[in-house]
Amino acid sequence: MSIKEHPPQLHTKQYDLHVPVLLSASLDLLKPQPKERYLDLTAGYGGHAEAFLNKTQSYSSAVLVDRDENAIAELGRFSALGATLINADFVSAAKQLVSVGEKFDVIMVDLGVSSPQLDNGERGFSFIYDGPLDMRMDQRQKFSAADIVNSYPKQKIIEILVRYGEERLSFAKRIADEIYKRRPFTKTSELAEMIVEIHRGGWQKIHPATRTFQALRIEVNQELAQIESLLPLLLQLLNSGSRVGVISFHSLEDRLVKRFFKDNSGLSFEAELELLNKKPLDGATYDAYNPRSRSAKLRGALKK
Ligand SMILES: C[S@@+](CC[C@H](N)C(=O)[O-])C[C@H]1O[C@@H](n2cnc3c(N)ncnc32)[C@H](O)[C@@H]1O
Repeated sequence: MSIKEHPPQLHTKQYDLHVPVLLSASLDLLKPQPKERYLDLTAGYGGHAEAFLNKTQSYSSAVLVDRDENAIAELGRFSALGATLINADFVSAAKQLVSVGEKFDVIMVDLGVSSPQLDNGERGFSFIYDGPLDMRMDQRQKFSAADIVNSYPKQKIIEILVRYGEERLSFAKRIADEIYKRRPFTKTSELAEMIVEIHRGGWQKIHPATRTFQALRIEVNQELAQIESLLPLLLQLLNSGSRVGVISFHSLEDRLVKRFFKDNSGLSFEAELELLNKKPLDGATYDAYNPRSRSAKLRGALKK
């Protein structure tokens, strides 16, 4: 039975649903086949899962992971069809699956945040919609963006702005100085307005708070550490002939994926992967209609 044949589900949130990024490109690259076993490590609102499971038709062997409880609630429509849902970060979930010897034919990892996370001010990811300085993907976690802004030493704030936000050092110092002077901050708008205020010169394309918000989000959710720990585990979750696709949204993420795929492919006898695409498939080319795809890059690999 296809998921489309099921009565439509009422979505539990009022804001825009997530439009899956590089969906056709992912299907073309990974080519899910009937009866194949699907693992989605960032299942979100189920856009990729729905399309992949429509191809595999193997709902009961599928495993869908997300650390966000709102996403897990939305994914209930797949568990009704037999899929297993795991509400955990993908490293814990992957370790759990490896420990019991589970293997999959197709694995998707669509990094970053979903539209419902970004567009719901209450989640605190947005400098457009006001809300608490939160940014936790996993609502069970205690540590939030407010802890960084209100209690990190100035030097550590500068470091994360430069490393995770790729912010210019001079501007990172100014932002950290002002944070230090004006804290505590409670709302995303207070932080965003302060950054606009101290930003000299006009801005056109990118809001001046973009890099700070990216840096805080990466630190709160330990996003790069999660990716680094996940990549080697993927090798243990793939069967021979299985495929994995990873969609990244900025150069820090893509660099890790690119390096891992490169280090584990090639002509050497030990190489476990074969690259499905030498150059990443990018959102601007393959998904031009979706504004959230603008910076997306998809890399795929096959386990030999
Ligand atoms: C870009 S969205 C995925 C959207 C999904 N592919 C779809 O089509 O609906 C990313 C999702 O991954 C989740 N996520 C990000 N990092 C995670 C991690 N380390 N562990 C588990 N889930 C994560 C987020 O909570 C979010 O729901």
